[in-house]
Parts: sequence; structure tokens; C-alpha cells
Amino acid sequence: MISPTERVIAEIDGPIGWMVMNNPAKLNAMSADMWAAIPPILDHFEKDPAVRIVVLKGAGEKAFISGADINRFDERKASAETEARDNENFRNALSRLETCPKPTIAMIRGYCLGGGLLVAMHCDMRIAAETARLGIPAAKLGIAYTFSGVQKVLDLVGPSNAKEMLFTARQFNGTEAQAMGLLNRAVPESELETFTRSYCTTMAENAPLSIAASKAVIAELMKLRGDIDRAKCEAIAKHCSDSADFAEGRRAFAEKRKPVFQGK
Ligand code: COA
Repeated sequence: MISPTERVIAEIDGPIGWMVMNNPAKLNAMSADMWAAIPPILDHFEKDPAVRIVVLKGAGEKAFISGADINRFDERKASAETEARDNENFRNALSRLETCPKPTIAMIRGYCLGGGLLVAMHCDMRIAAETARLGIPAAKLGIAYTFSGVQKVLDLVGPSNAKEMLFTARQFNGTEAQAMGLLNRAVPESELETFTRSYCTTMAENAPLSIAASKAVIAELMKLRGDIDRAKCEAIAKHCSDSADFAEGRRAFAEKRKPVFQGK
């Protein structure tokens, strides 16, 4: 068994190590066990020389990942221990995706929202269906998008598009997302898997050490930043997650209605 949970399936097919987010009834929303499954699966793929490329996808036709599991937010808030463990799993999963020496690709069909986009943005490349729906609904819930999420979206699409995504919280289709630089490729939905497999085969024929070297250099160069007051950003994010508006956002999602926000 490569995966510790049935909610993430790991399988190797030729040069591709597939990681399938498998919670289709909830549009592959990421539960705590799913975040925790990512590092051990990547460890396995990393050690297996047959795996040249790692591809993440969602089970079913409707979603890559619809976000972090919103229903878990209340549980997390109820216990500092649960919150700390969840945060640790979440950070580890994203950091392992980023540091995996093999190329990681998000193959996106359907919804790719919030925490789902975070997963996709921590992969090296994103290939999506033109019909995919990508976005950051944080402002519809009353929560702050994570520091690393804002950093990623900014690096990919620049400040103007990043602000449009965060302020409108709307969904962008694959064609729009590619034009902004969020995606490497947007292809007709019927061709998504064939295109991704063939793109991966091309990369798998190239020299793994050369690819790993490029990935390491790019990661180091991306570290060049000026003075960043991260503590200030984290305090603002905490103010959001402690707010009455975030409680209203979670209630509204559960009650399937529009939230009414007060700014406090
Ligand atoms: N967390 C928990 N459950 C989720 C979820 C999430 N992020 N996204 C979807 N679901 C659940 C829904 O609650 C629903 O469960 P139910 O059948 O028990 O009621 C099921 O998945 C199907 O979703 P539904 O909303 O009925 O599908 P839809 O096609 O009408 O809408 C979305 C699809 C993606 C637009 C909508 O589900 C949505 O807005 N999800 C939340 C997206 C979000 O805010 N993500 C960021 C979280 S960090």
C-alpha cells in the first residue's frame, strides 16, 4: 500500500506516478487525512526510479479539488491541538510538493478552488481543461488566503491579476486562467488526459538530473525577496479567522445561502 488512506490513490503507470484525490462526493475537498497522505506518497514516488513525473488529479469528472474541507474548520477551531496538527500536515504537504526533485504536474478538470488551487500552484506546472473553474473563494467565506497562497498567485499572475482573483473571488475558466499565466496549458476537456500523458512522456525522456537541477535553481532564485513583514500578514489573517464574518461564511456555506458580511 503506497497510500495511507483510500481518499488519496497512488498508482504508477509507465513513467507517471499518479496521485488521485478521491473524495468525489465532496468534489475532492481536502480532508485532514488527505493532506497527511501527500508526503508519504511523494516519498515513495521519489525513491522509485521508474517514476519520472508525478501527476495529481481529482477523481470523477467534476473537480480537481474544491478546496480545503470547509466543514473541518469548526472542528479545527474547537481544539488548538487539532488546529496545530492540521496546519502542520497542510504545510508539510505543500512543501513536499514544492521540494520533490521530480516534476509535479496538476491535471485540472472541473473545480480547482481555494486550497485546491494552492495544491495546483505548489506543483511545477498546471495543465487544465478549457472548461475548468479556477478561483480563490476566500473573500466569499471571510477567511484570509494563506501567505504562501498569495505569494504563489502573485508570482504566477502578477499583482493586478492576483488582486482581481482575490477581490472578486470569482471562478475563471481554463482559457482565462491560461491567459493570466495561472496555467501552462488549457486544452479541450476531451483531450486533457491524452495531452497530459504525452507531455509527461516528452519530459520523461529528458535527463532527470538536468530537470532536477533546473528545479533546484528556480526554487533558490524564487527566494530572492526584499524585507517582508510576514508577522504583520499573519496577524491580519488571524483577525479574519477570528472574525464574526468567517463564522457567518461557514454558516452560510452549510445552509447553502449567500453570506451577509459586516466587516468585523
Ligand atoms: N468543503 C466541504 N464540502 C464541500 C466543499 C468544500 N470545500 N466543496 C464542496 N463540498 C460539498 C458540498 O457541501 C456538497 O455536499 P452535500 O452533497 O453533502 O451537500 C458536495 O460537496 C457537492 O457540492 P455542491 O455545492 O452541492 O455542488 P455544486 O456543483 O452546486 O457547487 C461548488 C460546486 C464548488 C461551486 C461549491 O461546492 C462550493 O462553492 N464549494 C466550496 C468552494 C470553496 O469555498 N472552496 C474553498 C475552501 S478553502
